[in-house]
Amino acid sequence: MNYPTPRQSIAEMVRYQPNLSVKKSGRIIRLSANEGAFGPSPKAKKILSSVADEMHRYPEEDPATLAEAIGMKYNLDPSKMVFGCGSDELIMATCLAYLGPEDEAIHSQYGFIMYPMSVKVAGGIPVAAPDSNFKVNVDAILERITERTRIVFLANPNNPTGSYLSRTEVARLHREMPENILLVIDSAYAEFVVRNDYSDGSDLVDKSDNVVMLRTFSKLYAMAGLRLGWAYAPSHVINALQVVKQPFGANRVAVEAAIAALDDHDFIAKSVEHNTFWQPWTATELEKLGLTCLPSVTNFLMVRFPDAVGFTAQDAGEYLSNRGILTRGMSGYGAPEYLRLSIGTEEEMRIVVNTISSFFNHAR
Ligand SMILES: Cc1ncc(COP(=O)(O)O)c(C=O)c1O
Repeated sequence: MNYPTPRQSIAEMVRYQPNLSVKKSGRIIRLSANEGAFGPSPKAKKILSSVADEMHRYPEEDPATLAEAIGMKYNLDPSKMVFGCGSDELIMATCLAYLGPEDEAIHSQYGFIMYPMSVKVAGGIPVAAPDSNFKVNVDAILERITERTRIVFLANPNNPTGSYLSRTEVARLHREMPENILLVIDSAYAEFVVRNDYSDGSDLVDKSDNVVMLRTFSKLYAMAGLRLGWAYAPSHVINALQVVKQPFGANRVAVEAAIAALDDHDFIAKSVEHNTFWQPWTATELEKLGLTCLPSVTNFLMVRFPDAVGFTAQDAGEYLSNRGILTRGMSGYGAPEYLRLSIGTEEEMRIVVNTISSFFNHAR
């Protein structure tokens, strides 16, 4: 071959495939990426024009006002935060900082796919711990720890299954892990969880030296297009991530919009209330059609379709897509009999349920 080739492990990988493809015309109902149901926060939108005049300036490397606003809102120490271009950047930075060649990082069987991908890019080896009935199995993770393990990734709640581990279960995982392994608790969907026994993991960060919590403005705060995520971690981890991540990953527009979005109490309450009603409503309606939905505490559902020819998840995904409704196939996660769909507006949920109903009538 007469051209430069990437490392073999990179050449063998397939890029992240989000299914955000857009038809040229007609209405699109996009339920494939767990985005906000209502568009952006009005307060965040309003702030954008005021940032335009500063567009020529690099952003702050450590956006102090944003760290303070987050600290106030979640009762956290602003000095323990680092910001990135989405939490995706911080997942990658963690892998680059903590994995040497052939080092291992454990993720759960149906854990967020960016974990194994980022581990491979960093030259490490992803190790999958089997779930129990689509829920993270703490013992299975603990059993897979070896001398080469450097990181354990836990999405809590998890994407795409929607399940979560209680505060006690996460505490046990942490307690029984060796202290030299980093536990990354990715709480991207924390704001949607309405359960007394849930914790976002920040309490463990404050109590120990080997826990990182990841958060994002892409989900409840509905800013996925601006790309802003943050990590809450002990100072030695923050220092390592600061070296590895790009210096200006958290852009000026995103930072200002995030400060406004944190303060948009009406939008936040409306989004959580909407999800708390329409997510179970959607699950119930789909179950009336004979489908199975995994129990979810998030703004999305993983839905099982029949195995029968013409009725499969792939058939349904295509049928929906031809009608402008984008969902997410789960083949990449090794669960091809499932589709994942996010909770959109009431109208979108009614349309998706009716369209799946007509899919079954049509397929019959
Ligand atoms: C569990 C989990 N972590 C992280 C991310 C990435 O979020 P961001 O948009 O901040 O990169 C996602 C996005 O879907 C996610 O589901």
